[in-house]
Amino acid sequence: MNAENMIEIINKKRNKMQLSKEELKYAVMGYVNGEIPDYQMSALLMAICLNGMSDEETFNLTEIMYNSGDHLDLSDIKGFKIDKHSTGGVGDKTTLLLAPIVASLGVKVPKMSGRGLGHTGGTIDKLESIPGFKVSLTMDEFKKQLNEVGAVITGQTANLVPADKKIYALRDVTGTVSSIPLIASSIMSKKLASGADKILIDLKVGNGALVKTMKDAKKLAELMVKIGKKHKHDTICVLTNMSEPLGNNIGNALEVLEAIELLKGNVHNDLYDLIVYMASYMVSLGKNIKIEDAKKEVIETIKNGKAYDKFLEMVKAQGGDITKIKVAPKIFSIKSNKAGYINTINTEGLGEIVKEIGGGRETKDDVIDYGVGIVLSKKVGDHVDKEEEILKIYVDKKDMEIRRILSCFTIEEKKKSKEPLIYDVIM
Ligand code: URA
Repeated sequence: MNAENMIEIINKKRNKMQLSKEELKYAVMGYVNGEIPDYQMSALLMAICLNGMSDEETFNLTEIMYNSGDHLDLSDIKGFKIDKHSTGGVGDKTTLLLAPIVASLGVKVPKMSGRGLGHTGGTIDKLESIPGFKVSLTMDEFKKQLNEVGAVITGQTANLVPADKKIYALRDVTGTVSSIPLIASSIMSKKLASGADKILIDLKVGNGALVKTMKDAKKLAELMVKIGKKHKHDTICVLTNMSEPLGNNIGNALEVLEAIELLKGNVHNDLYDLIVYMASYMVSLGKNIKIEDAKKEVIETIKNGKAYDKFLEMVKAQGGDITKIKVAPKIFSIKSNKAGYINTINTEGLGEIVKEIGGGRETKDDVIDYGVGIVLSKKVGDHVDKEEEILKIYVDKKDMEIRRILSCFTIEEKKKSKEPLIYDVIM
């Protein structure tokens, strides 16, 4: 293609027309190479967000992003390798747990993770709350640790899908996160480039997720499975509930601390149930055993401390020191202004609050305050008395209005039935 004008490409998408592979490549690679400025790429992303993309455009976009950098070749690493990915939610610390649990049972987990996106947190930001933890490994370091420890979590290396790295950061601050084709191509380009044998995706659905409805979640799952098939990579999407925060802690350091407590056998909430479900799937695929047998192994490896030992081994290998994790110094107890059952939690609202007190980014270059966050004392379905604590908020420099926090909870006399934790599996 001639050096087609970026404005024409933006106009075409604004007018709901289909972009050719050449046009998409021109825009994406031009942006990666610094020839197309943020403001033009933002306009194109917004047009995609509003007008969507056909399957063919999404396949092409995935391929362009996948080919924008290196591909990780893990064929020289012995054993079964399974990658997992979550589409993001509030309080979602599953990667921190699944990698050591599954690796402690002999299935390797090579994991490249991202930073926070929109109101959702990111695994790399969470890991950075562990002083010393190195989140940018070279390919050689990544493979060495995968071989020796079996679990490794790193940020995307500079040259692994650089297109996604740059576009992801721009989407975060331009209101262009929640687009099905953009999410599908972002996730699948990274998963395909990271070389695992199989891919398990935890697709979060609900008011705290990037995807709010079951209809959109099914569309996204089917699209990712199709992309996986096209590239001969088995992809399994588990649709899970994100209409309340996962577990009790929200905020980088606080989430790491909850993960540690779970690995020590001290946490038995919805986070524990989801972890056991997902880990059983991963172990069953990795060892080619029945889910029920894998589940027994998963429960046992948490109980006997082997998963926690593997977590410590992984943290040590990456230079982290969990004894130095710090939470914010000011802790306020937020109490309910009435009695009743907690029927809904505005999960995105709580995610936004944590972001605003410093736990996430408003602009690409913001520095995170790792120690801030929220610890829920009550979850959906729980009863609360008037003046009883609903949550604790950990703040440092920025405070938050109590009324705004309380407005995230619907408290009613009658208890409503609770949504299931796992909705569906699409493969
Ligand atoms: N996770 C990703 O990696 N990309 C997205 O676009 C959304 C969630």
